[in-house]
Amino acid sequence: MAHATNDLVATDIGAYLAAHENKSMLRFITCGSVDDGKSTLIGRLLYDSKLVFSDQLAALESDSKKVGTQGGELDFALLVDGLAAEREQGITIDVAYRFFSTERRKFIVADTPGHEQYTRNMVTGASNADLAVILIDARKGVLTQTCRHSYLVSLLGIRHVVLAVNKLDLVGYAKEAFDAVEADYRQFAAGIGLTDIVCIPMSALAGDNITSASPNTPWYTGPTLVGHLETVEIADDLESGPFRLPVQWVNRPNLDFRGFSGQIAGGVVRPGDRVRVLPSGQESTVSRIVTADGDLPEAGAGQSVTLTLTDEIDVSRGDVLATATDPPEVADQFECHLVWMAEEPMLPGRPYLLKLGTRTVGATVTQPKYKVNVNTLEHLAARSLELNEIGVVNISLDRPVPFDPYTANRDMGGFILIDRFTHATVAAGLLHFALRRAHNVHWQAVEVDKQARAVSKGQRPAAVWFTGLSGAGKSTIANLVEKRLHEQGFHTYLLDGDNVRHGLNKDLGFTEADRVENIRRVAEVAKLMVDAGLIVLTSFISPFRAERRLARDLFDDDEFVEVFVDTPLDVAESRDRKGLYAKARRGELSNFTGIGSPYEPPVTPDLRLDASGAVTAEVSAELVIAHLRQAGVLTPPPVS
Ligand code: ADX
Repeated sequence: MAHATNDLVATDIGAYLAAHENKSMLRFITCGSVDDGKSTLIGRLLYDSKLVFSDQLAALESDSKKVGTQGGELDFALLVDGLAAEREQGITIDVAYRFFSTERRKFIVADTPGHEQYTRNMVTGASNADLAVILIDARKGVLTQTCRHSYLVSLLGIRHVVLAVNKLDLVGYAKEAFDAVEADYRQFAAGIGLTDIVCIPMSALAGDNITSASPNTPWYTGPTLVGHLETVEIADDLESGPFRLPVQWVNRPNLDFRGFSGQIAGGVVRPGDRVRVLPSGQESTVSRIVTADGDLPEAGAGQSVTLTLTDEIDVSRGDVLATATDPPEVADQFECHLVWMAEEPMLPGRPYLLKLGTRTVGATVTQPKYKVNVNTLEHLAARSLELNEIGVVNISLDRPVPFDPYTANRDMGGFILIDRFTHATVAAGLLHFALRRAHNVHWQAVEVDKQARAVSKGQRPAAVWFTGLSGAGKSTIANLVEKRLHEQGFHTYLLDGDNVRHGLNKDLGFTEADRVENIRRVAEVAKLMVDAGLIVLTSFISPFRAERRLARDLFDDDEFVEVFVDTPLDVAESRDRKGLYAKARRGELSNFTGIGSPYEPPVTPDLRLDASGAVTAEVSAELVIAHLRQAGVLTPPPVS
């Protein structure tokens, strides 16, 4: 796929390849819909840069005659749509990335659909773009979708915008039409913080102002689209900030060499620079910058390097090396923007994984603040976020991480949330700032600890977590277990769904979000009780794997026992002591577990009880006691 206009290809392929390699790269995104001429524009860019195979060209000529909309002339939209169909197969969040190149620069353009239901695709495509081309149909002017696209571009920190005022041929190349759209757009864009805007009058179809200045717009003196894309300055944006290197891996080929490898996320580094390791806070000095092609005197943002330091200090994957005088903050609670990308809604309290740079930690959304109507930019009250919704939330991590605000550094402040079980990306996030309360709330050191309290009770504290359908027999069995333990002198407490919902959790109902919060609170209370030295039994449906996992993660391995009270739905329903199944079947009780709301059975419980009626509750209780004894829970704790 050679650049046909470049004579070097024929005469000196080596020199051609070298020149090609040294060209800078611009990543950009196009925003707009097919109606605005987006496909035509991209098709023309590919065609004009000769990056179209001859067989594609032959197909384009014949398709243009058959189904084209341009009276037999080349219909560039067909070219792009054809490629799209080819490339989009098998991509889940589909963004078509296309490559083209000119004499001066290489380009990767992210092409995403323009409609609101494709917001997540646009966010994916925009997340590493340097520039956005926002298309406007000159006849229609600034539309709701123009505002939505611009808001996302601004939110994602794209600093350079080209407003492509397209289809100027359809308004007779009138300067007034162009000026009116430009004025309108600049006024709106200033309000959302977009300032570096170049407006270009064009016709993608006719080729006006794409690669060469059009004779149809003599009144326009600015750059052509390609001219601007080739020359817009972007490198500075990355290198001007403080130095940041998220460590991808620790390179230790032998005992004499220990280097820290990764891609520089900001600033410039030189041997002799003082650096700090985050989150540990240790400092050292850069000794060498090692690359496959030899040592470098300096390296900047975007380059992949290995640094060696003058001191033997602890650095692991996920740490950040940074300018000692201007290091990132380290915190575990933040305010941030989230763009929700999953079919299942966001649930506050549910444990997710958060990947920021090279570090992955556990995270929960603690407090949704508001969501943004992306068309009007209004703030709306929100408890959750649905697919494609954007909101501002507080988030809490299970460990502190080094970060910069997203507006200062996209790599150091941009993250994704991941589902713990499917490993699908559920959200993209942009950090704003650390919450002050995280700075102000400290762990209070207490002198009487869990071990001391356990010893004085002569038992090992533990949480025995019963889960199963309503009517499965959880409470009956848990009750019997507590009675036995109590008779044997153990200190216990039984937390039961129906009871806790009369007090601590009386503000919660049975929506997915409320159940997540119900279980989160119960797990925290159980943790306090275990800390107090008790054997705590919990009896909650706890229908979702994610929250049972959250509960388990709060405890040490030998402190948590998950007991699955396994009763088939029809058996539980036939018992129906509270008459709730009947009500649910009559449609009078929504979200009832097993009917209107799912139950996710444990895959590997510590103990599974067959509670379908084959054995009595007494026998089941004995099985639980036997399991606890075998697991060492009922032996006295070591006295240290
Ligand atoms: S959980 O799903 O959040 O774990 P929890 O165990 O606290 O539920 O409460 C379940 C009890 O609430 C049931 O045993 C039943 O008595 C009652 N209940 C009332 N409405 C529902 C409902 N929609 N789904 C399930 N249980 C319900």
